Amino acid sequence: PVTSLTIKRPDDWHVHFRDGEMLAAVAPYTARQFARAIVMPNLMPPITTVEAAAAYKARILKVIDRETDFSPLMTCYLTDEANGDEITAGYRDGVFAAVKLYPANATTNSAAGVTKISNITSVLENMQETGMPLLIHGEVTDPEIDIFDREAVFIDRVLIPLLADFPELKVVMEHITTNDAVDFVRDNSSQLGATITAHHLVLNRSHLFEGGIRPHRYCLPVAKRERHRLALREAATSGEACFFLGSDSAPHTVSTKETACGCAGVFTAPTALEFYVQVFDEENALEQFENFASLNGPKFYGLPLNEGTITLTKKINTVEDKIAICDGEALRPFRGGSPILWTLE
Ligand code: NCD
Ligand code: ZN
Repeated sequence: PVTSLTIKRPDDWHVHFRDGEMLAAVAPYTARQFARAIVMPNLMPPITTVEAAAAYKARILKVIDRETDFSPLMTCYLTDEANGDEITAGYRDGVFAAVKLYPANATTNSAAGVTKISNITSVLENMQETGMPLLIHGEVTDPEIDIFDREAVFIDRVLIPLLADFPELKVVMEHITTNDAVDFVRDNSSQLGATITAHHLVLNRSHLFEGGIRPHRYCLPVAKRERHRLALREAATSGEACFFLGSDSAPHTVSTKETACGCAGVFTAPTALEFYVQVFDEENALEQFENFASLNGPKFYGLPLNEGTITLTKKINTVEDKIAICDGEALRPFRGGSPILWTLE
């Protein structure tokens, strides 16, 4: 049996760092595991300008150890009022790596998101011409649609017409959760990629209520039925170029998770790689882990592969239980206090 795995340094293609004390508490975990990370722009207020992104990037680099060689890749939060010329200029200048589309009110801090795709036509035309990737939170917000169907309905109502209208636009469907999305991404892989989180590889919707309600397993898109989880595991471990690692590590304080109306988001950053590699091990697919974690993402984004390697060892370890941030506030990592079978050296 394999007891150690060395791969090219990986990247996280979807992470939430927040700001202030939370940023200082969480970003170093990602920087320790990954060479680069696509940093989500859903701050309050959101990152919508080149200037705000450059300032946010500087704040991120400030909380990361000088010795750590880590590059945050910044994203622009798309609104109905977005200016396509500024956005693509920010991409050409190397400030923005991509644009993030949140349907208005689909998830945490998305109130300023896009209400209709037709409002951003000129931005998408600019992006298509420039080769700038569009990252999509793929859920409809129609309250009539059952929450477990919102991703599949988004494919039909929004994604199919979008890909048809912008056939050269590079699109990433973020944090996919369904067999429908797996099939759709595969069928459109010349134009479309997808990130898959570690928690969606291990959770199905029954786990959200295992012995009682489990706020630290709740995120958006919400975990689906077991057959969907199995489809995601098959996709991730296939090594196919259209699927790559995006943890969607989304920290919220314990007090905002363990409450009557808890926030959506699972915090996996401290041991994201260990969660993922355990899944690849369980699926007898360790030989595909480098494709998923280190090769497929940069190829899709058109970025160079990282220099250097990391080694994961099959050695039991414990996920940190609670991480203090400030004045009585703390974070609870996914599966905090539980054993994990792999360790990042
Ligand atoms: C994310 C957050 O907390 O910012 N929450 C989540 O459940 N994933 C937003 C997001 O990516 O949807
Ligand atoms: Zn996210």
